[in-house]
Amino acid sequence: MIDDAVLLNDWHPVATVESLRARQVLGVRLLEEDIVLWQAGDQVLAWQDLCIHRGTRLSLGKVEDGTLACPYHGWTYDARGRCVHIPAHPDQVPPAKARVKPYHTRVQYGLIWVCLGEPSQDVPPFPEWDDPSFRKILCGPYPVRASGPRIVENFLDIAHFPFVHEGILGDKAHPEISDYRAEVTPEGVVAQGVQVYQPDPYGTGQGDTVSYTYKALRPLTAYLLKESAGPRFSILLTITPHAATESTAWMWMTMNYGHDIPEEELRSWQDTIFSQDRPILESQRPELLPLDLQAELHLRSDRLAIAYRTWLNQLGLSFGTA
Ligand code: FES
Ligand code: CO
Repeated sequence: MIDDAVLLNDWHPVATVESLRARQVLGVRLLEEDIVLWQAGDQVLAWQDLCIHRGTRLSLGKVEDGTLACPYHGWTYDARGRCVHIPAHPDQVPPAKARVKPYHTRVQYGLIWVCLGEPSQDVPPFPEWDDPSFRKILCGPYPVRASGPRIVENFLDIAHFPFVHEGILGDKAHPEISDYRAEVTPEGVVAQGVQVYQPDPYGTGQGDTVSYTYKALRPLTAYLLKESAGPRFSILLTITPHAATESTAWMWMTMNYGHDIPEEELRSWQDTIFSQDRPILESQRPELLPLDLQAELHLRSDRLAIAYRTWLNQLGLSFGTA
């Protein structure tokens, strides 16, 4: 078990509700822990992926009548995590010690969230979720061989648009970044009025300077809102930290316009953007995000990154950072 109290006591997305419904039982890795997810009726359960008998992965087992049976000798666990049946000794009451290690779960925004410790707060806020004027498209999962904090920082980085996403999010003829403020607040890192020139910000074929609001809501969850007079576009990025340099990114993309654009088109647009970011992320060294502000170089355009690193330092984050 890792020793980062901040991440242990936070919620992390691990799978879609849909994928668990289709398979009934899934194995996932979170913060170097192997976890079995399964569904007992409406209840989503997350346990250590280990049968107490001989240490077999329960995620290889079967769900039957609200129980999970181990694939090796058929020990059967109920939704409370107790072994209720041992096929080799059908008349024997299973020993009290025959139980699993359970974790907290929440189902929110179509994702299953797991907390390995004691949740210090709720899953991150996402106001568009309950607003029917926004359409929502889940993009990902995007596996990345990079640390969660490097991925979040890249999401907060605007100066890379003309280089990594030229023609989509940026234009090499307009690489300048105007000054903006980024602050560490009680809700995380917040930057408002971040101006960026984009070749086609709203799919109308017109280039324009748009204004972004960025927030790092949690060490591994960030949000952006792009708005002008009418159209609003936002993304909630959240990361599954499998290990220090092994992650999966998920993005909820929302918009209150373009309701007739096919979902596949929007998703493939985001897939393209992420496929441009991935090789950059996987190339960065050191792989762990340096929290010492003397390491690496920072300019005015990096204020969001500076605020993010400062905040992680204040929180005492250790996992995925150096
Ligand atoms: Fe699970 Fe034996 S290892 S039943
Ligand atoms: Co990018």
